[in-house]
Amino acid sequence: MKVFQVAVWVLAVGLVSFSGHVSGQVKLSYPPWKRSDLNCSYDDSAMVTDPALICTPKSDGKAIIFSYDNDVLAVRYAYTKPVRLYRKGTRYATSFATSFVVDIRRDIERSVRRVFGGSWAFAITPDQLTRNAGPESIGLFPIDINTGKPLPGPSPRTVAVEIDTSREQNNWDFPVLPHLGIDVNSLKSVKVDYLWNQTAFVRRKVGYFVDYDAKTEVMQVRVQNITSNGKLNKRNSKLWLTYPKFKLSDHVNEYSIVGFSSRVPVTDDGTYDLYAWNFETKEVLTNKMH
Ligand SMILES: *[C@@H]1O[C@H](CO)[C@@H](O)[C@H](O)[C@H]1NC(C)=O
Ligand SMILES: *[C@@H]1O[C@H](CO)[C@@H](O)[C@H](O)[C@H]1NC(C)=O
Ligand SMILES: *[C@@H]1O[C@H](CO)[C@@H](O)[C@H](O)[C@H]1NC(C)=O
Repeated sequence: MKVFQVAVWVLAVGLVSFSGHVSGQVKLSYPPWKRSDLNCSYDDSAMVTDPALICTPKSDGKAIIFSYDNDVLAVRYAYTKPVRLYRKGTRYATSFATSFVVDIRRDIERSVRRVFGGSWAFAITPDQLTRNAGPESIGLFPIDINTGKPLPGPSPRTVAVEIDTSREQNNWDFPVLPHLGIDVNSLKSVKVDYLWNQTAFVRRKVGYFVDYDAKTEVMQVRVQNITSNGKLNKRNSKLWLTYPKFKLSDHVNEYSIVGFSSRVPVTDDGTYDLYAWNFETKEVLTNKMH
């Protein structure tokens, strides 16, 4: 390498770190829930000064409890730094593996009706803004209530794995609740399947594994029923969804925010408790341009 090239390279690396983006391998593992790493953002309709009132650390530090005392509210909980998901104009893209444990803590009746808040998603988004997304949108982006599609405007550049527990009657969101779906710039899932009945689902720790292979362009979602003292273990999980021919770089920004999105319930009606989150990336050489 010539001296000039080294200088350019050093400068480039410097620029990336100055801009606060993460370019190399990312490896996140929580708990402990580092407040400096994780941003709790929410609708500005909530006049809250401390995000810890919405994303509340459990007293033993093991979980983050999501709910709001006054109203149902769209909330994001995400890694603060944008993560690189491909290199624009090259054949390099990012494979990732993420897993998390969430407990939908509410009674059965209230877990289905949307007026009590609902649904939880792992989401890849351009930023951390909830944009006062409406009741059926899991806090992601405003949608047409009759189709699940985003309202006219630029693409939301969002991919999500939804654990959908709450819907009003409509003609686009199947099958019955609760269900697990992959959403690509629409709340009408590209791949979806019934999860479990409500008795087996609420007030239970459930583990989810989302894997994306940038080389084969396949996304897979697995589910694990975690008993009270159990831990995430992929070997005990069951493959739920496979979405092939999925070129992630066509749908999200080169640098995106990763984390969770939800419409969290009023505290008296229940809480969503997040017990663990792991996220890991690996850059791979693919045979397509991004
Ligand atoms: C948290 O998200 C909000 C909403 O997008 C944003 O204004 C704020 O800068 C973010 N904070 C951090 C530390 O990333
Ligand atoms: C709900 O699922 C659980 C666990 O699979 C099962 O034991 C139970 O019988 C189911 N209940 C109904 C009403 O289908
Ligand atoms: C998950 O495990 C618990 C405890 O073993 C059991 O009661 C429950 O029915 C299981 N749920 C499913 C969907 O298998």
